Amino acid sequence: MLYQPPLPPQYQGLSIEALKLRVAERKRQLGSRLVILGHHYQEDDVIAFADFTGDSLKLSQLAAEQATCEFVVFCGVHFMAESADILTEDNVKVILPDLSAGCSMADMATLEQLEEAWEIVTGVTAARVIPITYVNSSADIKSFCGLHGGACCTSSNAARVLSWALDQGEKIMFLPDQHLGRNTAYAMGFPLDSMAVVDPNKPRLGLRDDGIRDARFFLWKGHCSVHTLFSPEQCDEIRRIDPEFRIIVHPECDWAVVQKADLSGSTEAIIRTVRQSPEGSKWAVGTEIHLVSRLAQEQAGKRVVRSLAGIQCLCTTMYRIDLPHLLYALDELAAGRVVNQVRVDDHTRRWSRVALQRMLSLPALRAAGS
Ligand code: 13P
Ligand code: SF4
Repeated sequence: MLYQPPLPPQYQGLSIEALKLRVAERKRQLGSRLVILGHHYQEDDVIAFADFTGDSLKLSQLAAEQATCEFVVFCGVHFMAESADILTEDNVKVILPDLSAGCSMADMATLEQLEEAWEIVTGVTAARVIPITYVNSSADIKSFCGLHGGACCTSSNAARVLSWALDQGEKIMFLPDQHLGRNTAYAMGFPLDSMAVVDPNKPRLGLRDDGIRDARFFLWKGHCSVHTLFSPEQCDEIRRIDPEFRIIVHPECDWAVVQKADLSGSTEAIIRTVRQSPEGSKWAVGTEIHLVSRLAQEQAGKRVVRSLAGIQCLCTTMYRIDLPHLLYALDELAAGRVVNQVRVDDHTRRWSRVALQRMLSLPALRAAGS
C-alpha cells in the first residue's frame, strides 16, 4: 500500500456542507480540464461529484475515452487509477485523491510470485498456458499477462475473456481472485476438479506435478475481503425469513454462496437486474454496502436488503476517498500543482495496455456486460 501523508490542517474539521460547496466551486473553476470518475462503491457525497460512474469495466472504457481533458481524478482504488493512466495518452494526468486507497486482493499477487509460479507450471506442462488477470491487480501483473499472450478481464466480461483464452491455449492461469475464476469457469461448464488452486506461499505452489498436468485452470489463491464475508448460511437465513427474497451476489463471493444465490453478476449487472425487476420485488444483495444502500434508496418501490451478511460489508480502501481528500486534490490542481499522480513506467505501460486492449476489443461484451 502506498503512503498518503496526512492532509494539511485546513482540511480537518470542515463541515460536510462546507466541503461540498468548496468541491463544487473547484470543479466549476477547473471546468473541462477535469473529469471525475467514480466507482459505484464510493460514498454518496463523493459520487455526487462524479462526471461518470461505473463498475471496473465501464470505468476502464470511460478512461480510454478521455482524450481532451488535462486531469482525470479517479475516485476508486489504486489499480483502477493505474488502468486509467495506461489507457490514456501522456497529456492526461490521472490523480488518486488518497494514494493509500489500494485493494487487498490486488496485493495478493506480486510479479515476483507470478514469475516463480509461471516457471513451475510451464516447467511441468507442455500445454500452452494463457495468463488472465482480473483488472484488480497491479500494472506489472497486467504487463506480464500482455507479454505472455494473455489479457485482463473484469467481473463483467470474465466468461468472454476465458473463452477467448481457451481459443489461444489449452490451460489458463487466472489471478488474483480464485473465486471469480472458479465461479466463471464453473458457469461455463467446467467441473471443479479441472481447477487447481495455486498457493504462492506454499512450496511448489502446493501442487504435485500430475496435478499441474491434469488441471485446466490454475486459480491464484487470492480473494476479496469484502465479498468473502458472505456465507451460504446467510442465504439460507434470508430464505427462511422470507422465501420471496431473490438473492443476487457478486462473483467475487465464494462458489458455495454463488450456488445458493438465484443470480450472480458484476456491479453493473446487479444494478441493472434490480432496476429492471417489477415494483414490489424483494432482493437480498451480496456486495459492497455503499452500492446496495444507494440502490435501496433509488428503488424505493422494491425491498432491497442492505446487508445480506447482517453486517455492513464495506470496502475500507475505497472509503478512503472522502470529500476532504477530493477537495485537497482539486485545490492543488487549481493552484497549478499536480499531487497524487498515478504513473506507470513505459515498459509496464506498453504490455499492460496490450492486456487491457485485448479485453476491451472483444466485441460481444463491449457494450453488454453480464
Ligand atoms: P466490478 O466493478 O467489476 O463489479 O468489481 C467489483 C470490485 O470489487 C471492484 O474492486
Ligand atoms: Fe479490492 Fe474487494 Fe475493495 Fe474491490 S471490494 S477494491 S476487490 S477489497
